[in-house]
Amino acid sequence: MSCLCAQPANQKMDLPKCYFCGFEVPNRNNIWIMTDMPDIVTEGDEDKYIGYEYIGGSYSGKRKYLIEERDLLFAKEVAGLTGDGIFLDLGCGDGCLTVPCASLGAKIIAGDISCAMLSILQKKAEKINISLENVTLCRMNALDIPLGDETVNTAAANGLLHLISNPEKVIGEIYRVLKRGGAFICQDDRPGTVKEARFDNAEYNEIVNTFYKRYWDIMAEKGIKPVKYSWRFVRDAFCDRLFEKKTTKLIKRGIAYEISLKDGFLARFIERGFSDQVNVPKDLHDEVISNLLNEFEQKYGGDFYGITYKGIEEDILLTIYTK
Ligand SMILES: C[S@@+](CC[C@H](N)C(=O)[O-])C[C@H]1O[C@@H](n2cnc3c(N)ncnc32)[C@H](O)[C@@H]1O
Repeated sequence: MSCLCAQPANQKMDLPKCYFCGFEVPNRNNIWIMTDMPDIVTEGDEDKYIGYEYIGGSYSGKRKYLIEERDLLFAKEVAGLTGDGIFLDLGCGDGCLTVPCASLGAKIIAGDISCAMLSILQKKAEKINISLENVTLCRMNALDIPLGDETVNTAAANGLLHLISNPEKVIGEIYRVLKRGGAFICQDDRPGTVKEARFDNAEYNEIVNTFYKRYWDIMAEKGIKPVKYSWRFVRDAFCDRLFEKKTTKLIKRGIAYEISLKDGFLARFIERGFSDQVNVPKDLHDEVISNLLNEFEQKYGGDFYGITYKGIEEDILLTIYTK
């Protein structure tokens, strides 16, 4: 249903009607509805993807309404590379990149297939008092970006490619909408060089691994498998062939952190908040989780939820592919 002409005019798509073909872009709660594709497609012959419509509530946990240091560091690089142009944040989710970029004055098109995530993004910005005046929020499908060729200066697709059965097509779309000289900016974690911390997380790791394995063993007995895409996709190999140039930049971190099972893994897993759980029926999920929690309380004690993972924040490796 989207209209290819319905691209940002004057850097901000504030036209309810396409100037060129008259197509009226629906707008719900300040979100331009640029596609009527489903939120999730995991069956059939079409390209598959996992939108976060039902995951939204548990996706960001405690960081939902704040800007994390790592996201601000990434945003500074993105805003710097975007300059006065437009940044496309594809699969923008809860806005962990869009919102800090907006705080730095960048003009942004924030696209996601999930209206729930786009609403969380809006709420986050509101709670921390960051204006979205320069942000155009769009429900869009990354497999068919509703923008004209060579319209944006920079793009990111953070945490998106592994949710799509055809990540090459998404990168092809990013390449198409980038201007000549524009940059596709990727962020990866890299183990840092801080050596002093040697935390013992054996108990935490054992619980997480056993919980995860027990859950999926039970699901397998019911004929349900985790949904996973693109694990073997090698972004670099593909992008190296497509883009003119590649540069990298390492951002050092090294801050110690600690997170409990309750606030970390369990918070999300219990709420069916991981994308590989997308095909697990809610009733079955609730029953299995309830049984497993009882089982783990007996084995590790009723306060096992409070066991923490201690770590050192990883460095960030930025890879910038230039068209
Ligand atoms: C793991 S979250 C990442 C969010 C954010 N970029 C981050 O780094 O935290 C992935 C996001 O991609 C969105 N998504 C999944 N498939 C999509 C598609 N085909 N088109 C657009 N967005 C999609 C999901 O709805 C979700 O919000």
